[in-house]
Amino acid sequence: MSSSSKASVQTYKNFINGQWVTAASGATFPVYDPSTEEVIAQVASASAPDVDQAVAAARAAFDSGPWPATTAQDRGKVLYKLAEKIRANTAHLADIECRNTGKPIVEAEYDIADAATCFEYYAGLANKVMGHVNPVPANALSFTLREPMGVAAQIIPWNYPLLMAAWKLAPAIAAGCTCILKPAEQTPLTAIQIANYFEEVGLPPGVVNILNGLGETAGAALVAHHGVDKVAFTGSAAVGKIIVKSAADTLKRVTLELGGKSPNIFFPDADWEAAVDGALFGVFINQGEVCSAGSRILVEKSIYSKFVEAMTEKTKRIKLGAPLERETKMGPLVSKEHYDRVSSYLEIGKKEAKVAIGGGRPKQFGKGYYVEPTIFYDVKNSDRIAREEIFGPVASVIPFDGESEAIRIANDTPYGLAAAVWTRDIYKAFRVVKSLRAGIVWVNHMQPTYVEAPWGGYKQSGFGRELGPWGLEEYLETKQVFVNLDETPIGWY
Ligand code: NAI
Ligand code: MG
Repeated sequence: MSSSSKASVQTYKNFINGQWVTAASGATFPVYDPSTEEVIAQVASASAPDVDQAVAAARAAFDSGPWPATTAQDRGKVLYKLAEKIRANTAHLADIECRNTGKPIVEAEYDIADAATCFEYYAGLANKVMGHVNPVPANALSFTLREPMGVAAQIIPWNYPLLMAAWKLAPAIAAGCTCILKPAEQTPLTAIQIANYFEEVGLPPGVVNILNGLGETAGAALVAHHGVDKVAFTGSAAVGKIIVKSAADTLKRVTLELGGKSPNIFFPDADWEAAVDGALFGVFINQGEVCSAGSRILVEKSIYSKFVEAMTEKTKRIKLGAPLERETKMGPLVSKEHYDRVSSYLEIGKKEAKVAIGGGRPKQFGKGYYVEPTIFYDVKNSDRIAREEIFGPVASVIPFDGESEAIRIANDTPYGLAAAVWTRDIYKAFRVVKSLRAGIVWVNHMQPTYVEAPWGGYKQSGFGRELGPWGLEEYLETKQVFVNLDETPIGWY
């Protein structure tokens, strides 16, 4: 397949109101395999008229038709079936995800499994949504109904495409909302794929619409649209700020997950091997394209040199390779644009700090957006490579002197998504945990994320929480019902 020729690749449409439709303008955008730099698909590129159509479909499905009459139990069954369908197609979906993102196939398989688990979790939660009886005076009865928020626009990034789709769609469906999901333009293929399952699992037309397009056109039009009640976004802080401003015009509910510059803190008494592994895993998994990447590695001075050396030695073993090869531990970055961005940070880093390993393009690849796993050391927390999200396999190692300095440096960032601390001293561990301003703090680990536990940021890492019951809350409104039990007139006038 000569995939640089447009004619030879498949063109995918948008999924609106249960139908596959081309964009009103007829426009498409190309989708690449970042390991070969070849075009692997063309996808319909939505603009304002397509957004109108998708919102109208979601609006109609929310306001009338079978969905509002569906019981919580039925919505749970739909989600169970979707989980099972995704699980049954793991190999196929992982293959697509791997080719489209460049992530190693083994990691893609985990992502698909996690996506299925997320749908399954919210399947179980759908009929556990309950209101309260409120303790008002005895001559009245007050209770709360939990109702779906309405039409949700869900805008997701390219680093975990199907998993992020699951984090958005599953709680919204459980709550009884309807959705317009806009995948990242770099990685739309798995979301398109699962739209093929919707009818079979019992999702009525219009309940979930998959709308592909560019952020500045399709994404921006969705956020501004009067027919949308809620925006859920994962991506850059820069776009998060644009979304908040735009959503203000209609006072939409907004939740944001915006990444970070997360500290991974190492004290001398940590288990040595586990710590070195944890430092590398924290920042290099998924090519470092992780919102919670432990990209600031804070190491106590007494072990600092030895720790940098041990990290460097182990980094030499990281196998870069073709994403579909099972031994591959690091694939290419997602796109040319992102490769250029990360490469520019490598140049900035070389001016600001010292290079322990990496710092450029690996020699063995003729094509593909590969960069070497890179460790900068003697980084100052004021350096750009310690303050700005690079979103690639780039570690900034910063020395510290004692617990209070570690905490001060860790918190000296505009972000607050995640943090980790490594020590065997439980007093110290929990003192540090309490002092860190972050939405998740791992102790003696970094990155495990479970659907049962909340996920989201402090500070400029966003607001709102995903996963667990917290994730469902973000798709529910609270209605108070007040029932007067006293038949005598108010008698005020
Ligand atoms: P981005 O924030 O531009 O894209 C994320 C999503 O937002 C995509 O679906 C995109 O189409 C959409 N979008 C873009 N502009 C929009 C707008 N004006 N209105 C509505 N939607 C819009 O992220 P990008 O440009 O792909 O990556 C840039 C940087 O963002 C990365 O280098 C990384 O630092 C950060 N990022 C953080 C992520 C996270 O998980 N928190 C995920 C992806 C990127
Ligand atoms: Mg962008």
